[in-house]
Amino acid sequence: ARSFTTGGGAPRARRVLVFPLPFQGHIDPMMHLAGALHARAGLAVTVLHTRFNAMDPTRHPEFRFVEVPDGVPADVAAAGRIIDVILAMNAAMEAAPAVVRAALALSAMIAEEEEDDNEAAPPRAACLVIDAHLLAVQRVAEELKLPTIVLRTVSAACLRCFLAYPMLHDKGYLPPQESQLHMPVPELQPLRVKDLYQSKISSHEMLRVVIARITETVRNSSGVVINTSEALEPAELQKLRGELSHLPLLLAAGPLHKLSSRSTGSSLLDQDYSCIGWLDTQPPGSVLYVSFGSLAAMDSGEFIEVAWGLANSGHPFLWVVRPNLVQHADIVQLPDGFEEAVKGRGMVIRWAPQQEVLAHAAVGGFWTHCGWNSTLEAVGEGVPMICRPDAVDQMMNARYVEEVWGVGFELEGELGRREVEGAVRKLMGRGSEGAEMRERAQDLRRKVAECLMERSGSSHTAIDEATAIWDPPPK
Ligand code: UDX
Repeated sequence: ARSFTTGGGAPRARRVLVFPLPFQGHIDPMMHLAGALHARAGLAVTVLHTRFNAMDPTRHPEFRFVEVPDGVPADVAAAGRIIDVILAMNAAMEAAPAVVRAALALSAMIAEEEEDDNEAAPPRAACLVIDAHLLAVQRVAEELKLPTIVLRTVSAACLRCFLAYPMLHDKGYLPPQESQLHMPVPELQPLRVKDLYQSKISSHEMLRVVIARITETVRNSSGVVINTSEALEPAELQKLRGELSHLPLLLAAGPLHKLSSRSTGSSLLDQDYSCIGWLDTQPPGSVLYVSFGSLAAMDSGEFIEVAWGLANSGHPFLWVVRPNLVQHADIVQLPDGFEEAVKGRGMVIRWAPQQEVLAHAAVGGFWTHCGWNSTLEAVGEGVPMICRPDAVDQMMNARYVEEVWGVGFELEGELGRREVEGAVRKLMGRGSEGAEMRERAQDLRRKVAECLMERSGSSHTAIDEATAIWDPPPK
C-alpha cells in the first residue's frame, strides 16, 4: 500500500484532485465527494475531466477544472456505450501516457502556484481520487508518486462480486446459463446467478477484462471510498474489509449526495424544475415517480405498454422520458390519446431534478431501473420502489431492495400494460403490501440518516478518516 506522508516532515498538501468517469451515474457521486471534502475539510479541489461528456466548470466556481485529452474516437463517443468508451479511453491513455502525465502535473502545479505566498505549502496535490474504471490514469499517477484513492460509485455487494469474478467463472456460475438463472450463489448471499453483474450489450469476455481492470485499480490504490452506508450493507462491508485487508482505508461514506449540497450542478442534461410546481399541487404521497436513469433503454413496444400501464393505473405520476429512452428511435413519441387520458394526473418531462423530486412530499413511490444512485436517492428519502433492472449492477441492487431491505419489489417478465398497472397499484394502493413497504422504507431512511449524523454517524466519520490523511488531528 502507498503511503500518504509527503516525506521530510513537510506539511501535507491541501489540494485533492478528482477524476470521475464521464457518465452521469459516476460524475454525481464524485462531485458529491469533492463537495464534502471541500466543505467539511476545507480542501481545495481540482476536477480532471474529459471532453467526452464534459462538465460545465461555470457551475462549480469553487473548483478548478483541467481537461485531460480522452482519445475517444468520434464514432465511439457518438454511440456513447459505456464499456466501449471506457476501453477506448484507457487504450488511448495507455498509448500516450505523457498526455495524462502532463494533465496530472499541471493540476498539481496549479496547487503550487496558488499557494505560492504560503512557504509552508507543499508543491503537490495530496492525492488523486479516481473512478475505479481509470486504471490508465492510476498507472501514470503511480509514476508521479501521487497516491490514489478509488471512489466506488456502486454498492459494496457489487465490489465483492467483482473481486469474486474469477471464482464465479471457475465454479461455473458465469457466464450465466439459462437453466441456472435462479440458482443461489452462496458465496455472495443473497444473490442468485441472474443477479450477478452482467452486460446486455457487451460480450462476457469484454466484461471480464473491464472487471479485472477495476479490481486491479482497487487493489493498487491507497484506499477505497464506497458510496454506501454501514446501515445498508454491514455484512458486505465486513467481508470486504477481510478480502481487501491490505488496504489502509476502506470507507463507507454514503449516501454521498446527503453529505454535500443537494444539487451538484453536475447534471449532463438540463433538469426541468417545472415538475416541482406541479408536484406542489398533488396530495402527499400520491405521485409515482418513474425514471430509468441515464442509460437504460426499452424497445418501442415496451414504451407504449409503460405509457398505458401508467395511464390505466389511475395513480398520479411523473415520468422522465429522456431523448434516448427508446431504442432505435430518434424522436420519442407518446402514444395517441395518452396525454388526453392522463391530463392533470400525469406529467412527462425529459429530465428531472431527481433528488428534489424524491424528497418532495407528494412523491410516494419510485419506479426505477435500480441504478445505484437512484436506489440510494430513494432509500435516503424513504421512498419505496418498483424495480425494473436492466443490466450491470441493477439486478443485484433490485435484489437488495426486495429481499434484504424489503422496501420494494421487482417487476419481472414481460412488460405489459396489465403488469405495469398491477405493480403501480400494489405499490401505491391502500393494500397491506404497499403499506408495509412504505413503513420499512421509512425505517431504513432513519437508519441511513443516523449514519449521516454529525460526529457520531459512520458516514460522517468515514469522511473525517479520509480527510485525516490530509489534516492529521492536532496532538
Ligand atoms: C450507471 C449504471 O447504469 C448504474 O447501474 C450504476 O449503478 C451507476 O452507473 P445510471 O444508469 O445513470 O448509472 O443510473 P443511476 O446510478 O441511478 O444514476 C442516475 C443519476 O441521474 C442519479 O443520480 C439521478 O438523480 C440522476 N437523474 C436521473 C437526474 O438527475 N434526473 C433524471 O431525470 C434521472
